[in-house]
Amino acid sequence: MTPIRKRVLSGMQPSGLMHLGNYLGALENWKALQEQYDCYFFVADWHALSTNYADTSRIRMFVRDMLIDWLAGGIDPERATIFIQSRIPEHAILHLLLSMMAPVSWLERNPTYKEKQEEIKEKDLTTYGFLGYPVLQAADILLYKPDFVPVGKDQLPHLELTRELARRFNDIYKTSVFPEPKEHLTKFPKVIGTDGRKMSKSYHNTINLSDTEPAVRQKLKTMVTDPARVRRTDPGNPDLCPVYEFHKIYSPQGTQDQINKDCRTAAIGCIDCKKLVADRLVEQLTPIWDIRAKLTQDSSQVDEIVDAGSKRAATVAKATLQEVNEAMKI
Ligand code: TRP
Ligand code: SF4
Repeated sequence: MTPIRKRVLSGMQPSGLMHLGNYLGALENWKALQEQYDCYFFVADWHALSTNYADTSRIRMFVRDMLIDWLAGGIDPERATIFIQSRIPEHAILHLLLSMMAPVSWLERNPTYKEKQEEIKEKDLTTYGFLGYPVLQAADILLYKPDFVPVGKDQLPHLELTRELARRFNDIYKTSVFPEPKEHLTKFPKVIGTDGRKMSKSYHNTINLSDTEPAVRQKLKTMVTDPARVRRTDPGNPDLCPVYEFHKIYSPQGTQDQINKDCRTAAIGCIDCKKLVADRLVEQLTPIWDIRAKLTQDSSQVDEIVDAGSKRAATVAKATLQEVNEAMKI
């Protein structure tokens, strides 16, 4: 007898090329989960509209790039169900139904609602869709009745709201259609960008999975180091150096220890130190680049994977929606 595997569901907004921060944060976690659980991973293209509704020119490209990044990065379509949100209309239908019972006050007090509006001043985010972002996310999640939802800390309020909506639905319709999903917190190793701040698309300090080898090497060459180390003869402090943070991720312990010592005595220069880590990074990214190149050239493979994944996802989503209609007597 094979025990039923617990289910995991997560999504990502296609808002640009994936960088090492996304990769080491989310994707490494997803890769580990797909070994053990029945995983559903989807590209949340409708969610991307909540902030990008006025310019949709690149959204299809972003969706495709994201799928290629996932596949190249090791998400395995044999193990995980990979799909695109907008292929499954049930997400929109459940969003509508949940919106009928979602109190506006719950949405207005959601911390990310206020924060994002403050952060993104250049767009008009006083929209219905933006306020309802977490309701769509709740629909995404509840349709698949997952046991766990792997997310970063920033998504916890959305998950709490999902549970509150599930409870409210079950209470109102005297049903148990929706089990309450638990979060599976992603241990986000904070990845530092080339300027020493947190790696983030909005800071333009990322190293992307889609960067070429020369681009990666160039980015490392110009990466900031211990700011107090001005001349080659100045001793440095690795604890204050973003390049050393990369060594901690990519270099073997022996190399790290050696650099830690040699930097402090100025026995190694920053140029050589950066070259060492660039070599390791290139080594790790090369297999990803190879798969990326193949998938970029022959996009039919990506299409097939998404078609099959969307079909599987639709079966689950349809079954849940049927239960929902039943419970609501629609
Ligand atoms: N809001 C999530 C993010 O920005 C993306 C997302 C959409 C999601 N729907 C989801 C994550 C459902 C987990 C489950 O990262
Ligand atoms: Fe940073 Fe390496 Fe230069 Fe030391 S030698 S300051 S760790 S780049």
